Amino acid sequence: MDLLARPAEDPADSRTYLLNEKTAQDYRTAVSESVARIGAKIAGTDRPFTGITVDGLAPAVSGIDLDVPLHDAAAALDELEEVYLRDAVYFHHPRYLAHLNCPVVIPALVGEAVLSAVNSSLDTWDQSAGGTLIERRLIDWTAERIGLGEAADGIFTSGGSQSNLQALLLARDEACRRALTGAGVASPELDTPPPSRLADVLPRLRILTSECSHFSIRKSATLLGMGAEAVISVPSDENKRMRTADLADELARCHRDGLIPMAVVATAGTTDFGSIDPLPEIAELCDRYGAWMHVDAAYGCGLLVSRRRALLTGIERADSVTVDYHKSFFQPVSSSAVLVRDRATLRHVTYHADYLNPRRMAERRVPNQVDKSIQTTRRFDALKLWLTLRIMGAGAVGELFDDVIDRAAEAWKLLHDDPRFSVVVAPQLSTLVFRYVPTTDQDPELCDRVNLHARDALFASGDAIVAGTVVDGRHHLKFTLLNPETTLEDIAAVLDLIAEHAGAYLAEQPRPALSAR
Ligand SMILES: Cc1ncc(COP(=O)(O)O)c(C=O)c1O
Repeated sequence: MDLLARPAEDPADSRTYLLNEKTAQDYRTAVSESVARIGAKIAGTDRPFTGITVDGLAPAVSGIDLDVPLHDAAAALDELEEVYLRDAVYFHHPRYLAHLNCPVVIPALVGEAVLSAVNSSLDTWDQSAGGTLIERRLIDWTAERIGLGEAADGIFTSGGSQSNLQALLLARDEACRRALTGAGVASPELDTPPPSRLADVLPRLRILTSECSHFSIRKSATLLGMGAEAVISVPSDENKRMRTADLADELARCHRDGLIPMAVVATAGTTDFGSIDPLPEIAELCDRYGAWMHVDAAYGCGLLVSRRRALLTGIERADSVTVDYHKSFFQPVSSSAVLVRDRATLRHVTYHADYLNPRRMAERRVPNQVDKSIQTTRRFDALKLWLTLRIMGAGAVGELFDDVIDRAAEAWKLLHDDPRFSVVVAPQLSTLVFRYVPTTDQDPELCDRVNLHARDALFASGDAIVAGTVVDGRHHLKFTLLNPETTLEDIAAVLDLIAEHAGAYLAEQPRPALSAR
């Protein structure tokens, strides 16, 4: 029975909704119809957002009676138009310039369709078979691009936050193991006698990371029972890259104070500035102090396939690396991985369950990916990347990322030469942090309000979407460019819109001396 045409009064046999050999034609029809609608939607989107408010949309969603099914896919899609599709935020639109969301490549969407229909679960071989091998190939491929060496391994995760958490979990447990066994640090002259109990080790662990690193590092420290105070924030230089002299000082201070620098987290592409920490120098310091080097390349991983690969020099010395294919590899959410230099370190997340992955399977070398993961049931997200590499190829992905980096460099010049704005740093990747600065009044508080207003007003108009952040205590605006279709003209037009909203706000201020440029 056709899902799209099933009349509401026909009390449908619930089994006809299951995908199987009898219903394959219904599945084809229903999914083709939904794909056709989304295709039309994507083609017809003339701005990234409608500007709908929460209050404007919430009644439509709460008004739907979830206990009264429509029994009709076409009707449900019509309804979805009202509660979601009409007002969704569309990342493929060239004037979506806000967060680290990319337009997605079609080969990955083919993968998405396949993986959710087959619905393999990547925890054990007996639930995924070939899927396991495909994921392992992609981990090997990525590790090879990074240069992690023969013993490297890793696992796909739900995103950069989870990858960072898992990497720090491994680093923590390695630091504990080493402290308790007296394996100590790399340089013998720095060695201290091993403490006898885990309870003595844990409070001494520290994670060092730049002030510009992602908040998931602090969150991970808390989730790992170390507390946010276990994270030492290392200052960044004027280009928002970690100051390695300060890192060296902090590591020396840890050593003097009997603390254990369990990990240094370098960022290859900070969220706000796209800055890449000096990886070779950080690697040297990690070697000297026996600290685990984690590189959070959630954003910058696209450089692995770009003509700017050299920007990542030093990443090959990491103990672990986070890559988010759902950022700079143009993959749909979710698609991320954590890679490790030494596959043996993954044992810290290995638990055997009689019903799922008993120890005898590991002894028989059955490749159960759950042995390496902090998840159990897990999507076959790797398939999207697989089809992307098989259909368009890594070089084409790199070209897309290179395009947006080129555009960011051009946009930086535009902003730099525009007296209405001040721009924070020249981009290494594809973000720009800037601030509208009214000429006639440099009052920083007013400037803050103007910029906050301009962002909100732009969002409410739906004409474009930009992000915001705080630099040195002051509110700034941010472009994250991940869409190669965004032109310099788009960027100039969005700057004009920002200036218009800012000017309108200033014109409404009670102080008559204020005016916009
Ligand atoms: C540098 C960096 N690391 C980690 C993350 C977290 O990634 P996810 O949102 O996939 O959890 C982000 C997100 O923007 C990021 O920019």
